[in-house]
Formats: sequence, structure tokens, C-alpha cells
Amino acid sequence: MATEPIQVRPAEDSDRRPLALLFAAVAEERDGIAAEPPIDVEKRAANWQLDGMFVALVAGEVVGDLWVEQTSFGYGEIGMMVAAEWRGRGVGTALVAAAIDWARMHGLHKLTLSVFPHNDAAIALYRKFGFVEEGRRSKQIRRASGELWDLMEMGLLL
Ligand SMILES: CC(C)(COP(=O)(O)OP(=O)(O)OC[C@H]1O[C@@H](n2cnc3c(N)ncnc32)[C@H](O)[C@@H]1OP(=O)(O)O)[C@@H](O)C(=O)NCCC(=O)NCCS
Repeated sequence: MATEPIQVRPAEDSDRRPLALLFAAVAEERDGIAAEPPIDVEKRAANWQLDGMFVALVAGEVVGDLWVEQTSFGYGEIGMMVAAEWRGRGVGTALVAAAIDWARMHGLHKLTLSVFPHNDAAIALYRKFGFVEEGRRSKQIRRASGELWDLMEMGLLL
């Protein structure tokens, strides 16, 4: 766990640029999320849908985020990331806990997500909260390298 407290709160306008920079940095890793460089940071910052977006902060610095895309069918689809230097310290756990609370408060019956099957850290985090594997999409994501990666679909009934 982080030694400094982790704060999770709904995203605000002033978070747009830090969120876009974090997204670009994680995309550079070419590992956990589907997006790959180049990321247009200014465009990303302008286009974030802040409703349903949470940020995790340590000492006032954005170190992670999670968004819930609420559908009109009662479920929400989530995506998230934590800055590389802050991983393994409970930031992801704090974000998922906040998302589950928010989803329940908004009357959602289910949260779903897609994750690359090699993403052990993310899968461990989701399983910890009770998400279960619901299926796989074969060769769903074409990478810049030309590789085709599967997606694992996971869900949590609330
Ligand atoms: C996935 C991610 C969000 C997890 O965030 P995090 O802040 O590191 O998560 P936490 O520190 O809360 O750890 C959550 C659990 O995962 C486990 N975990 C962490 N890293 C792990 C690893 N490499 N292998 C297996 N389990 C791991 C921890 O043991 C922890 O469980 P515990 O609290 O019972 O010990 C983060 O690794 C990340 O941003 N990765 C890149 C982007 C990404 O993959 N996003 C998700 C796309 S679906």
C-alpha cells in the first residue's frame, strides 16, 4: 500500500490534461491497454467524458483513473489505469471500490470490462472484487505490430 493516503474523487475539468498525459504514458507501454502511440494529448484532454470518471490522487498528483461508461441497459463498462510508478500500492483497488459504490448508487445491475488475457495484474485486481470471466473475443485487437490479441470479457453482478 502507498504510505501517503490515496484519495479517490470524481474527475474535474482541471484533471483533463494530467489524465491525457497518463493515458499517453500507459499507451507507450504497449501492453495493458488497447491504445498505442501516438496519442494526441490535447485532443484527448479536450474530449474526456468526465461523467463517471474517477481520479486517484496521492499528494495532489493524479496517479490513476477509472471510468464507467453507463449504458441505457443497466450495466456499465469500465476502463482504468494507474501510473507505472504507483502500481502495486493499492491505487487500483481504491479506484475499483469507488466505481462499485458509484455503480450501485446509480442503480446499475452489472459492471463489465475487457482485459488482455496476459494482464495478470488487472485480472487479479478484478477477481479480488468478484469479477468473473464471461468469455473471450479471439484476435479482437490488431496491434501496431500487426499482432492480433484476444480480449477476455469479465463481469460483476452488483
Ligand atoms: C491493472 C492496474 C490498474 C492495477 O492497478 P494497481 O494500482 O497496481 O492495483 P493494486 O495495487 O490495487 O493491486 C491489485 C491486486 O492485484 C494484485 N497484483 C498486482 N500486480 C500483480 C501482478 N503483476 N500479478 C498478479 N497480481 C498482481 C495485487 O496483489 C493486488 O491484490 P492484493 O491487494 O490482494 O495484494 C495497473 O497495473 C495498470 O494500470 N496497468 C496498466 C494499464 C492496464 O492494464 N489497465 C487495465 C486494462 S483492463
